[in-house]
Amino acid sequence: MTASPTLETTRLTLRPYRETDIAELLPLIGTREVAATTLRIAHPYTEQDARAFLALAQEGDKIWLAITLRADGRQIGGIGLRVDQPHQHAELGYWLGVEHWGKGYATEAAREILRYGFEDLGLHRIFASHFKHNPTSGRILAKLGMRYEGCQREHLCKWDQFVDSELYGLLRQEWEVRE
Ligand SMILES: CC(C)(COP(=O)(O)OP(=O)(O)OC[C@H]1O[C@@H](n2cnc3c(N)ncnc32)[C@H](O)[C@@H]1OP(=O)(O)O)[C@@H](O)C(=O)NCCC(=O)NCCS
Repeated sequence: MTASPTLETTRLTLRPYRETDIAELLPLIGTREVAATTLRIAHPYTEQDARAFLALAQEGDKIWLAITLRADGRQIGGIGLRVDQPHQHAELGYWLGVEHWGKGYATEAAREILRYGFEDLGLHRIFASHFKHNPTSGRILAKLGMRYEGCQREHLCKWDQFVDSELYGLLRQEWEVRE
C-alpha cells in the first residue's frame, strides 16, 4: 500500500501524524466524551497511549491521519481507514475534539477519505459502525451515502456494558454513482 497521504478539503488538511503532535493531541483526545462513543480510544488517554497509537499508525494496513484546520494548522481530530487488502475493503473511523463538534468537520473529512479509499486505493467497499447510543455518527454515515446494513445486537463491550453496533457500508459502484 502507498504511504499515508496528505489530503485537502475546503476547510481541512488531513495529514500523517508526527511525534511532535502528541502535546496537542492529548487534551483533544483525552476527554471522556471522545472515549465514550469510540471502541479503541482509552480513557484516561496517556502519552504512552499516544506513542503506541503513532507506532500503530505506521503499520501498512492502517491509514490514520490528523484532521487539521487549513486556516491555522491546528489539530482538531483524527480519521482513518483500516484496510483489509485481500478483501479490498476498509473500515472507516473518526473522532473530533469536543469543541469542534457540530460544524460539519467530520462529514467533510470523511467524504474526502472515502474518495481517497475508492479512487486512490481502488477499494471495493468501505464500512463503518457506531454505537447505537451515538446517532450523530449514524447521521454522518447516512449523509455520506452509506447504506444501513443492520444492527449487531450487543456486539461490543464498552466499559463493562454490552452495546449494540449499527453497521453501514458503501460499495465502490454506489460511490461512483453518487459522485
Ligand atoms: C461523531 C463526531 C465525529 C461528529 O462530528 P461533527 O463534526 O460534529 O459531525 P458533523 O457536524 O459532520 O455531522 C453531525 C450530524 O449529526 C447530526 N446530529 C447531531 N446530534 C444528533 C443526534 N443526537 N441524533 C441524530 N443526528 C444528530 C447533526 O445535526 C449533523 O447533521 P446535519 O449536518 O444534517 O445537521 C463527534 O461527535 C465525535 O468525535 N464524537 C466522539 C467520537 C466518535 O463518536 N466517533 C465516531 C465513532 S463511530
